[in-house]
Amino acid sequence: TTNQSWGGRFSEPVDAFVARFTASVDFDKRLYKQDIQGSIAHATMLARVGVLSEEERDSIIAGLHSIQSEIEAGQFDWRVDLEDVHMNIEARLTAQIGVTGKKLHTGRSRNDQVATDIRLWLREEIDVILVELQRLQTGLLDQAERHAAVIMPGFTHLQTAQPVTFGHHLLAWFEMLSRDRERLLDCRKRVNRMPLGSAALAGTTYPIDRSITCELLGFDAVSGNSLDGVSDRDFAIEFCAAASLAMMHMSRFSEELVLWTSAQFNFIELPDRFCTGSSIMPQKKNPDVPELVRGKTGRVYGQLMSLLTLMKSQPLAYNKDNQEDKEPLFDAVDTLRDCLRAFADMIPAIQPNVEAMREAALRGFSTATDLADYLVRRGLPFRDCHEIVGHAVKFGVESGKDLAEMSLEELRQFSDQIEKDVFDVLTLEGSVNARDHIGGTAPAQVRAAVVRGRDLLAS
Ligand code: ARG
Repeated sequence: TTNQSWGGRFSEPVDAFVARFTASVDFDKRLYKQDIQGSIAHATMLARVGVLSEEERDSIIAGLHSIQSEIEAGQFDWRVDLEDVHMNIEARLTAQIGVTGKKLHTGRSRNDQVATDIRLWLREEIDVILVELQRLQTGLLDQAERHAAVIMPGFTHLQTAQPVTFGHHLLAWFEMLSRDRERLLDCRKRVNRMPLGSAALAGTTYPIDRSITCELLGFDAVSGNSLDGVSDRDFAIEFCAAASLAMMHMSRFSEELVLWTSAQFNFIELPDRFCTGSSIMPQKKNPDVPELVRGKTGRVYGQLMSLLTLMKSQPLAYNKDNQEDKEPLFDAVDTLRDCLRAFADMIPAIQPNVEAMREAALRGFSTATDLADYLVRRGLPFRDCHEIVGHAVKFGVESGKDLAEMSLEELRQFSDQIEKDVFDVLTLEGSVNARDHIGGTAPAQVRAAVVRGRDLLAS
């Protein structure tokens, strides 16, 4: 036998390097709070079903509380030779309260213990992420409301396409983030199932009552199969998939902010506190926050791929492979939360350069579609109108004039259906105001969408 808690069947101590190689305490100590919470619930349940006495339960719970205080005061001596967070805490409990500490693990295994800890931890983290997400979404709604009528060019292929309102553009991001929120809320439902009681893989011979621990720990339901309960990490993969999509959205968002802060676009100002300078070029103000968020997207995709690959082909039930689930999950959680937080802080502080946006929208024939639609209303088929306007744009490119800058005579070279009222539709305001339906860019629609968005967040 060795000095390990599982050392009974061993005749030599574990190799020193192997001990370090197989240990997870350096990273899984992050689960200490959930581990203690789970143990308190387990001990409470064991006492209720008569496996522990009430004195034993009370002594275990008091010991665990004092260990939590030690950890939080930075006074806990984490030992790599004790492998992981679970055995560190259990060993300390026994050192503190004596032989009763050794009874805590009755009817339980580290396999159901760790699966429970991760779910408790992830559930809390999802809630924190949802708060940051909501803060960012609120910032977008406020900005959209403020700038409902500010006009900018909308793009396809990054070429000027049609005028849109800045508010409308901001609300496109709001929509994407709303779907991310739905995905996280949905994922949370499957995270919130309790594997505790599965024991190592087959369940336990003690008369446990899983409904007690389930209620104490705030789970929605217990897992229905012990083999599955201890082994699958699909909930963590699902979180990383939802996080990857959220980061994909954040990366698109970032890319636009980076473009827009460039001298070439000059659409928005980022406050200095979200930027940094260059050590050599004195004029520089770099959009570091969106650039980093764009870059960090790759990490989260990577963690998703790590976990998918980790789980692939694992036979039932628990395998040590699963110890590798934590670092990818922790990193995906930290990255998403921090990126959302940075954006939630930054978005309320961005300022549109209204004039620069307007000038850009006036360039690039952004109201060409409006002219075609005008001719359709005069009774011409859309395809012919498209061609007529194409000729007018060609003339504009050659003469250096946008459509609204041409005289009526010039425009009438292309169609005698064009009258003086054409200038109403060629203006930027005419163009955006005309797109006045749900999902359209008209300022009135932006304001209505903001109201719907606020309702959604309050629900
Ligand atoms: N540290 C382990 C993990 O993270 C805990 C479970 C270990 N169980 C075992 N039988 N080796 O997965």
